[in-house]
Amino acid sequence: MTKWLSGYYEDNIIFAAEIIKKGGLVAFPTETVYGLGANALDKIAVARVFEVKGRPDFDPLIVHIASKEDIYLYAEGVEKEVEKLIDHFWPGPLTIVLPKKDSIPSIVTAGLSTVAIRMPKNPIALKLIKYSGVPIAAPSANPFGYISPTSAFQVADTLYGKIDCILDGGKCEFGLESTVLAFDNGEFYLLRPGALDLETIEKVICKPIRLYDSDKILSPGQSPRHYSPKKNTILIYPHLDHEQIDFTETIKKIYNYLTANQIDSKDLFLILPCKNFDINEKSFGMVDYLSDEFDLKTMASNLFEKLYLADKSSQNTIMIIGVPMKHLGLSIMNRLEKASNIVIR
Ligand code: TXA
Ligand code: MG
Repeated sequence: MTKWLSGYYEDNIIFAAEIIKKGGLVAFPTETVYGLGANALDKIAVARVFEVKGRPDFDPLIVHIASKEDIYLYAEGVEKEVEKLIDHFWPGPLTIVLPKKDSIPSIVTAGLSTVAIRMPKNPIALKLIKYSGVPIAAPSANPFGYISPTSAFQVADTLYGKIDCILDGGKCEFGLESTVLAFDNGEFYLLRPGALDLETIEKVICKPIRLYDSDKILSPGQSPRHYSPKKNTILIYPHLDHEQIDFTETIKKIYNYLTANQIDSKDLFLILPCKNFDINEKSFGMVDYLSDEFDLKTMASNLFEKLYLADKSSQNTIMIIGVPMKHLGLSIMNRLEKASNIVIR
């Protein structure tokens, strides 16, 4: 039986923490997406997370902590630059990968010699970790490869009956997973773009973040198809003019694609980034928007929810229009590329 509890009651968080202590699984809200948590020090509990998610055992989990100092318990090589970074951005949507200490069982890190650590900002998440008294290993609370959940309802849709508890904390603030950086030999490497944009981080570390280089750093969770709806999902890159979306040209691109591929627009769930498109909504099965005005933060926070709704709709095809790849746009496009089976540039 899965207990679905409000995370706004202290007693419920304490109850969920008891479940974690006993080796159970609790889905809980973070500011990014919902996590599926287990005691990171309990190998059997962690094995259940892999099993319930259907996650391949080569894909390591993030360890969530409730105070910055705990990083020294689980990781080596916390140099000054790393301290500066976490002082600035923790608690928050940033995960840092460092050499691991033996305190973390190797099942958590999929046998890697490094561990990913983050201190979330969501107060329910922080209390859950504190009351549990242990670090919590948590991937996003969805079956492997499916859309990440940004509400308790979405978690329940796929995991109800398979886990012990869902702590409901409403909709997630960012709606996109944390940014994952590795620190190696004095340099930061981007392993996954996410809710914290690179420009903001670079201002604090005062040097550029290096792009992921598979020869130097291992990051196994980079499967090309991920976060995916079950339906046929087409991503259309917008037509850009001076790095801004040209709305008229982008609409032409949509219609050209539909005509060339003989797709019935009535069978289409179209997701547009914002309402600036002058499009005839009636000619489509369904039209939805990630944000009213062009606002990347709002778009990011609605992205997974809209993909989920589109996947549940009666239309057979999802088409989503992308955004320029700057700031959070980079993370949004990273998720969209992986969510789609057809990408039109
Ligand atoms: O926002 C988030 O990060 C959410 C919430 C729940 O905290 N968690 C999340 O976990 O997105 P998950 O498991 O869906 O993604 C974790 C990512 C994967 O791409 C994984 O491969 C990478 O982090 N990762 C974890 N440990 C790693 C390590 N030691 N080295 C390299 N990459 C690692
Ligand atoms: Mg995930």
